Amino acid sequence: MDKLQLHRTEIKAAPLLERFPFPFQGDSYRYSNNSRALTPPVCTDITPEYYEEIEEKRKLLDRYPERTFQAAPHTLEAQWEIMSMLMKELASVHADYFSLDMKGDQWTFYNRLLDETCTFVFGDPSTLPYEPLDFIGRHIQEDLIYLQQRDGDLYMDAGQLCFPANWSLAFDLGMTYLQFHSPVPIYSDSGLAEKVLGFLLRMEAGKPWTRINWTLNVGPRLDTSPEAFGEWGREKFGLNLDNVGEIMHLRSEDQRLFRIPGSNGILFSIHTHLLPFQELIRNQVWAERFCKVLEDLPDPLADYKGFISYKPLLIEYLKRHI
Ligand code: HEM
Repeated sequence: MDKLQLHRTEIKAAPLLERFPFPFQGDSYRYSNNSRALTPPVCTDITPEYYEEIEEKRKLLDRYPERTFQAAPHTLEAQWEIMSMLMKELASVHADYFSLDMKGDQWTFYNRLLDETCTFVFGDPSTLPYEPLDFIGRHIQEDLIYLQQRDGDLYMDAGQLCFPANWSLAFDLGMTYLQFHSPVPIYSDSGLAEKVLGFLLRMEAGKPWTRINWTLNVGPRLDTSPEAFGEWGREKFGLNLDNVGEIMHLRSEDQRLFRIPGSNGILFSIHTHLLPFQELIRNQVWAERFCKVLEDLPDPLADYKGFISYKPLLIEYLKRHI
């Protein structure tokens, strides 16, 4: 049997419907800088989906290394800094599940959920089985993107990305903030992306931010990478009023932003949550609001998010259940 399945500690949490980060504050949704101060200033969240998601992550990392982990060589120092920050956070915020022993440069990291221990020399890559960002990403549910700040700009120079909402790390690597946002309609050509870039360049260490991004998912699959489009893209063709509730999911990304002081870059983490429509309608306030948001959504956004062809079906389903 798979090692990950042998040691399962129960991870206590509220039911999905109560902890799902519902993305809408009102009956209308437009792109905006919806970032707010992150309190408490913590990157990681451990949910009951931990085991299945870590198993899926590690499978993807092993099978598709180029699409799931990329790092320019000059990011190595920043990677150690991020790994150190996250290990210390895990050991203090999730002390039931993780601990860290530091004796000079000799560090030992324990993951009690997976019953794994790793001893390494901090700063010596030959003592870790993977690059530091890749190593720590294998213990948490978040995807991790590192942006290096130089010449008054931000560059996507490293990342571990297993659960993308239809974008490619291998394709975006080395791009600037404005370049990798260029496919986003309205955001990229209204001046908003430039404003947000200015905000990010001014971000200070110790003052992290958070925002929620959303889209829709056909099926419960977290890995909707463009490279795997052949596997998930065709699923939308079989949708009808009887199966929408089970198949369609609201996909909410809890994104967090941290200034990494030593390297002066930014860590961008993404924790993805999926809520099937048939669960969502159990919260009637959410169902009504979501329906109004869809009705009011500008076509370029529905088109970019990939559901414009079946948006009327989704609205019809929600109306029937309100
Ligand atoms: C700094 C770290 C960030 C990174 C690495 C990042 C990366 C990305 C990427 C790769 C995409 C997909 C683009 C594509 O279709 O190829 C995207 C979409 C988007 N990003 Fe960012 N982003 C960041 C921060 C932000 C912030 C702070 C905002 C604030 C408004 C923002 C707004 C958006 C929007 C509106 C979309 C379109 C999402 C959708 O409609 O589904 N991003 N981002």
